[in-house]
Amino acid sequence: MTIRISGTGSALPEKILTNHDLEQMVETSDEWIRERTGIRERHIADGDTVASLAADACSKALADAGKRAEDVDLIIAATCSNEMLLPCAGCRIQSLIGAHRATAFDLNAACAGFLFALQTAQAYIASGIYRNALIVGAEVLSGIVDWSDRSTCVLFGDGAGAVFVEECNEVGRGILSLCQGSDGSRGNVLYCRERPVAAGKSAGGTTGEPDPFESTDTFVHMNGAEVYKFAVRQVPECIDEVLEIAGLSAGEIDHFVLHQANLRIIEAIAKRLGIAPERFPVNLDRVGNTSSAAIPILLDELNKCGKIKPGDRLVLSGFGAGLTYGACALRW
Ligand code: ACO
Repeated sequence: MTIRISGTGSALPEKILTNHDLEQMVETSDEWIRERTGIRERHIADGDTVASLAADACSKALADAGKRAEDVDLIIAATCSNEMLLPCAGCRIQSLIGAHRATAFDLNAACAGFLFALQTAQAYIASGIYRNALIVGAEVLSGIVDWSDRSTCVLFGDGAGAVFVEECNEVGRGILSLCQGSDGSRGNVLYCRERPVAAGKSAGGTTGEPDPFESTDTFVHMNGAEVYKFAVRQVPECIDEVLEIAGLSAGEIDHFVLHQANLRIIEAIAKRLGIAPERFPVNLDRVGNTSSAAIPILLDELNKCGKIKPGDRLVLSGFGAGLTYGACALRW
């Protein structure tokens, strides 16, 4: 038994920040941002929170699946930017949408979080513990970005994307294969402290510079070149693995829905797989990098505009801080 996605939803804050707006904030240009990343604009929370955006996306996913909030067994919220340490975003979402029967919790695997949550839900449902789940990736990254650091503040956006998944007994339908992994030795490549650590109280860092455990601020720090190299090597490997398990070739996949970090990364991955870039849909030009929300927001766009049709084969793949990575092959 496997699971299938039977509903999608997404929510973006109304406020839009363009590259031209950023030109007024840091020393950058629309041309530099578009050429290096593909991003033109992003949505920024203006009173919205991780839980409010997630609840909106979840309600839309439920409506799309034709389900009621009281039908939901499990809610997994993938996020790395929840404003609250306690309670978790999952419980807040449960309360906001009125899914009083659901068990709810959070999962943080950064930009691979949605795929880790999907695999977690699959394990719960396949083992018979639950029959369905709402999986939501939601971020307010604008709250953890240093708005004076041009190397990171131009990349990220806020938003949420959700899917409703349920058990599927039809052979060859739903999720066909999954893969996920982590490389904790490279945590220094992309990090953000929750609160400053007292001097001399290092929790013990990873190899190389800088040591994230000795950071004194609470902003996102990134070694862009290392993230780029990691993504371009690890994502194709992970995709090859899910294709092999599913018994499919890359040529049989209709849509490669990848984490929307950077257009150059997506193009490099398409080239490595030998697949035309047209089969890699993109929305990062309009939403930026929304971390764990990126894949489900794009899935919802493709679903709602009819680009994904019943029977289509998809590969989803994400990578992020940790470092973490994951992929999934599925038949819609
Ligand atoms: N505007 C203008 N100049 C800038 C900006 C900016 N916004 N940001 C950096 N620069 C400057 C740098 O200061 C540097 O100047 P210098 O040569 O005088 O020192 C120059 O541009 C080149 O900087 P690089 O960091 O080498 O630029 P690069 O071409 O590598 O592009 C980027 C940076 C886009 C981040 C690239 O490394 C990349 O694509 N990395 C992948 C990582 C990524 O996309 N991460 C997203 C978040 S992580 C995730 O989702 C998992």
